Amino acid sequence: MNILVTGGAGYIGGTVSRLLLAQGHTVTLYDNLCHSRREAVAPGATFIEADLADRPCIERTLREGRFDGVMHFAALIEAGESMKVPEVYFRNNTASTLTLLEAMLATGHNKLVFSSTAACYGEPEFTPITEEARLLPTNAYGESKLLVEQMLTWLNRIHGFRYASLRYFNVAGAIEGYGEAHEPESHLIPLILDVALGRRASIKVFGQDYPTKDGTCVRDYIHVQDLAQAHFLALGALEKYGRLIYNLGSGQGFTVREVIDSVQRVTGKSIPVEEQDRRPGDPAVLVASSEKIKSDLGWQPQFPELDQIIESAWKWHQQRHT
Ligand SMILES: NC(=O)c1ccc[n+]([C@@H]2O[C@H](COP(=O)([O-])OP(=O)(O)OC[C@H]3O[C@@H](n4cnc5c(N)ncnc54)[C@H](O)[C@@H]3O)[C@@H](O)[C@H]2O)c1
Repeated sequence: MNILVTGGAGYIGGTVSRLLLAQGHTVTLYDNLCHSRREAVAPGATFIEADLADRPCIERTLREGRFDGVMHFAALIEAGESMKVPEVYFRNNTASTLTLLEAMLATGHNKLVFSSTAACYGEPEFTPITEEARLLPTNAYGESKLLVEQMLTWLNRIHGFRYASLRYFNVAGAIEGYGEAHEPESHLIPLILDVALGRRASIKVFGQDYPTKDGTCVRDYIHVQDLAQAHFLALGALEKYGRLIYNLGSGQGFTVREVIDSVQRVTGKSIPVEEQDRRPGDPAVLVASSEKIKSDLGWQPQFPELDQIIESAWKWHQQRHT
């Protein structure tokens, strides 16, 4: 297949594009490198350095590429930042996605796999969270993605546009030769691994008084390779279905303290902790039910254990810094 991957120089887009290339697919990456580096571009992919907001460029890329599907990862991803400059998130994540969608409609492309997020749910009413749960984001990042989901619903209804919206929980881990390196880094596992490598003095833990077993927040971690597999299944299923919405997590929740313990176990290093106050907009517990994608598409995670996820990330993190 011939696939366009937006945000393809980022962590998840870069992983998915490497796996697509390894399967023999043709891949074009579209990224403005605002949060990535040229060196992250997968060898063997065609690379277009451009912003999604550049309508002539994205339209030309689509017209010339004649893709079988688009995987749309490009976005700004920091919930905390989105609460300081929400307008930047609505411009980059919502308005630029509309530009992509208009260009897809104009060029006759009608299959999209969209990177949505657990942040669409906000503070959950029940756990594990199913796709039917109330959508009420507690940060502008989540809202910027939910707005895209709403646009997609209408495009599907009116134009028959086919899409899969995948609501990821916390993505982590690495494949051989490629892993998580956000710039700047805000995600827990790479930050703790930096402490294990001596690149940071300690890990900040935000909030010690949540109603959880040790007072720290509970999150659900999914291995990036399992997430990639879900994208391949979803794109394939769009041959048959017009509108798919799936949660993607492991279904298991771990407190921040348990993640730190896992890193200590895997790396053999001791991790100093700096206790901080709660951050606004952080729900206490976010755990996915991924039963729907399992039963509909037969998705099965290969790396469901937290230690496995951290082992793969640790291996890559060490290589990266040697
Ligand atoms: N990492 C996670 O745990 C997680 C969880 C839920 C959802 N997501 C979603 O998955 C997607 C990928 O996340 P990631 O962790 O790989 O982030 P990332 O920052 O590593 O990758 C995003 C890429 O998009 C590019 N980009 C951003 N805006 C762009 C624009 N306007 N035009 C062109 N390129 C642009 C950036 O340069 C970057 O390379 C995002 O949409 C994110 O919201 C990620």
